[in-house]
Amino acid sequence: MRVLVIGSGAREHALVLALRKDPAVTALFAAPGNAGIAQHAEVRAVEASSGPSVVALAQELGADLVVIGPEVPLVLGVADAVRAAGIACFGPSAAAARIEGSKAFAKDVMAAAGVRTAHSEIVDTPADLDAALDRFGPTWVVKDDGLAAGKGVVVTADRSAARDHGAELLEQGHPVLLESFLDGPEVSLFCLVDGETVVPLLPAQDHKRVGDGDTGPNTGGMGAYTPLPWLPAATVDVIVDEVVKPVAAELVRRGSGFSGLLYAGLAIGAQGPAVVEFNCRFGDPETQAVLALLESPLGELLNATATGTLAQVAPPRWQDGAAVTVVIAAENYPGRPRIGDVISGTEDTVQDEAAVLHAGTELRDGSLVSAGGRVLSVVGAGADLAAARANAYARIARIKLTGSHFRTDIGLAAVESRISV
Ligand code: GLY
Repeated sequence: MRVLVIGSGAREHALVLALRKDPAVTALFAAPGNAGIAQHAEVRAVEASSGPSVVALAQELGADLVVIGPEVPLVLGVADAVRAAGIACFGPSAAAARIEGSKAFAKDVMAAAGVRTAHSEIVDTPADLDAALDRFGPTWVVKDDGLAAGKGVVVTADRSAARDHGAELLEQGHPVLLESFLDGPEVSLFCLVDGETVVPLLPAQDHKRVGDGDTGPNTGGMGAYTPLPWLPAATVDVIVDEVVKPVAAELVRRGSGFSGLLYAGLAIGAQGPAVVEFNCRFGDPETQAVLALLESPLGELLNATATGTLAQVAPPRWQDGAAVTVVIAAENYPGRPRIGDVISGTEDTVQDEAAVLHAGTELRDGSLVSAGGRVLSVVGAGADLAAARANAYARIARIKLTGSHFRTDIGLAAVESRISV
């Protein structure tokens, strides 16, 4: 099977590493990829958000399967274009990708499917903002209704900060979604979905705030770990049966059945799981940890999802133990990141018990330099969460990037049994 992965982040680097281990994958390409992905797959140029550009490349490469990593091409219909060209594609149609592309659409689907989620209101004029804020909070949850790479959300007990964020979004012409605050620890559950067939992967937890102790602004994700020692074993089945399957069935009922990876972001409160958000693709950085523990061939799972045969494939098998991803971010991220700095210490040695995955990197005059906000994801695996953390942080100690920062507490609250449901 000849596979083309679309995207350029550490998530796509993780997908490429896992696909490389699948003996059925005979040729592996990535576009546009990055400097790290180029060590494991043939990297080609592409306009990732253009259906014709992706289709032309897939045809030139003789791809049997195209795997689309990021949400923007999916929301813009690139998977539809690939399928229309007769090539199998892992990723939902534009119609189904609205589950991420429009929070208002996702709320409507959840209401129809009877899925628990936060109460919400859309505000689209500044005149309505103050009165709407009075009906919510504290704590206020203020979101961009469209795609915002995780940075469109402000969760705050400070009304003026909530107002400022809402006003800024409205000034940019973006409708604002106000939500009631969902209490409880968060879980990211990734499910392979092919119509009404739902196959969960390992549950993970993301760390969205930039600073240790969950301080500072939200980011695209500063680290993640899997599995979740504090999550009761039955909860994954509850989420599949009460959240993901009803939503998948509702999308089928609307004529826009989902094919690909449906990411349920949930808060586990006193009354059980409630949905914080849905995404239409693998999450970043949780994927880097989840795929580190996957033993089954990834190509077979993705291809079965893409070709409507997921129900016939054995459920995924997982390595024992735990995995932790720690993101190394450029100076000033999640604001405008400083880029162009030389990165050293990313080369693997045989003793390494952690992998260095690339995101915002590029080769300039033979040197590896930073090229984005989230620069690297370091993934440690181990017999338990403490060992996985130790491996990840030992590997980070060898990496040098001027001005960079990372959280030192990824997975720590779980190791110290400070999370309960
Ligand atoms: N981990 C957050 C996201 O992928 O959206």
